[in-house]
Amino acid sequence: MINGERLIERPLRWGMVGGGRTGQVGYKHRTGALRDGTYSLVAGAFDLDAERGRDFGVRLGVEAGRCYATYQDLIAGETARDDAVEVVSVATPNFTHYEITRACLEAGLHVICEKPLFFTVAESEQIKELAEHKNLIVGVTYGFTGHPLVHQMATMVKKGMLGDIRIVDMAYTHGFNSGDDVGAPEAVKWRTNPKTAGSTFVLGDIGTHLYYLSEIVLADLKIEKLLCDRKAFIPSRAPLEDHATVLMHYNNGARGRLWVSSVDAGNMGSQRYRFVGSKASIAWSDSHPDQLVYQVQGEPERIMHHGMPYLEDESLAVDRMGALHTEGLGDSWSNIYLWIAQAIDAKRRGDEAFLKTHHYPDINAGLEGVRFLENCVRSADAGAVWVDFE
Ligand SMILES: NC(=O)c1ccc[n+]([C@@H]2O[C@H](COP(=O)([O-])OP(=O)(O)OC[C@H]3O[C@@H](n4cnc5c(N)ncnc54)[C@H](O)[C@@H]3O)[C@@H](O)[C@H]2O)c1
Repeated sequence: MINGERLIERPLRWGMVGGGRTGQVGYKHRTGALRDGTYSLVAGAFDLDAERGRDFGVRLGVEAGRCYATYQDLIAGETARDDAVEVVSVATPNFTHYEITRACLEAGLHVICEKPLFFTVAESEQIKELAEHKNLIVGVTYGFTGHPLVHQMATMVKKGMLGDIRIVDMAYTHGFNSGDDVGAPEAVKWRTNPKTAGSTFVLGDIGTHLYYLSEIVLADLKIEKLLCDRKAFIPSRAPLEDHATVLMHYNNGARGRLWVSSVDAGNMGSQRYRFVGSKASIAWSDSHPDQLVYQVQGEPERIMHHGMPYLEDESLAVDRMGALHTEGLGDSWSNIYLWIAQAIDAKRRGDEAFLKTHHYPDINAGLEGVRFLENCVRSADAGAVWVDFE
């Protein structure tokens, strides 16, 4: 169980780019980072509006002189100090991730970046090489994958409790973009423009969460082929999609389907997973994150509850709230930030042995998410045809 005891030597000096007062995801980063004494927020370039960013940063408790107008100023200002930031989170629109990550790594700073990590696999590979060369960590914030029941599912699959995996069924849908984008907030406008979002809208925005979570649960499975059909129900969003379905063939013969949509009118937003094996199935959704449905063929259905002693050690080890209370998104983000802090701490101490077995959403997790998107786009843009997963 995680209880707030500090698990690294001292707090890491942490800065943020983006995640300002009007940003959607910034508070999730701060919720994740500022909980276990592993990070101390000392600097930021929080906002495109420099004045608003400074005011916001000061209200977060950051010294005015360390609330910078741009990420370039942050890097220049901080690297000139003895007590410079050590790690920077990037919580800005997609098109800025690559340049900000690259600049931070070149300045010797670890990076925690939002998904979808970058626009292309080639960019992701360049950054992976740079991070390795600089001996620095790149973490990626796949929000719900720190949840204890995700790790329960992974262990159940690994132990063979489901038998051979046959069917993978995943969906992440909501209805918040069911109408057109006239008068839409900035966060919608940049998501539906290829110049700022990349080659996808919902596939990158929410589909990458499904993909990474399934990679954790199905650690030994790889996609061999996929077929992606995507559509913009709101025509102004084309060539980007507000809806997509992907069919997948895995290397063990399993079949999968993934559905993402932001025009699922009336749906308040949920991600849901069902993994079916030859003996049993498990199902989990972030709408009821405390519960995992375990169905063994021929037996009564079981609801497994987070934090209960019958769960696997791997799940109980990352539980925070205990079974009596809800364990949710904020708890999951805290785990992700903690795991990344442990990786950075191990790098600082030169503890490569620890890093070999330590799991966290790393540069490969980001890179593989981008690879999934590239394959989906290749299939969809050729007319929704089967393509080998490259
Ligand atoms: N992991 C998750 O669960 C999750 C959830 C939501 C968003 N995201 C990702 O987070 C990123 C940001 O999304 P959002 O919804 O918060 O966007 P947003 O438009 O709501 O906020 C972006 C923030 O970044 C600031 N900003 C933009 N460019 C900047 C720059 N060059 N320098 C400094 N600040 C800058 C803006 O002023 C704003 O504060 C995206 O990549 C998105 O995909 C991830």
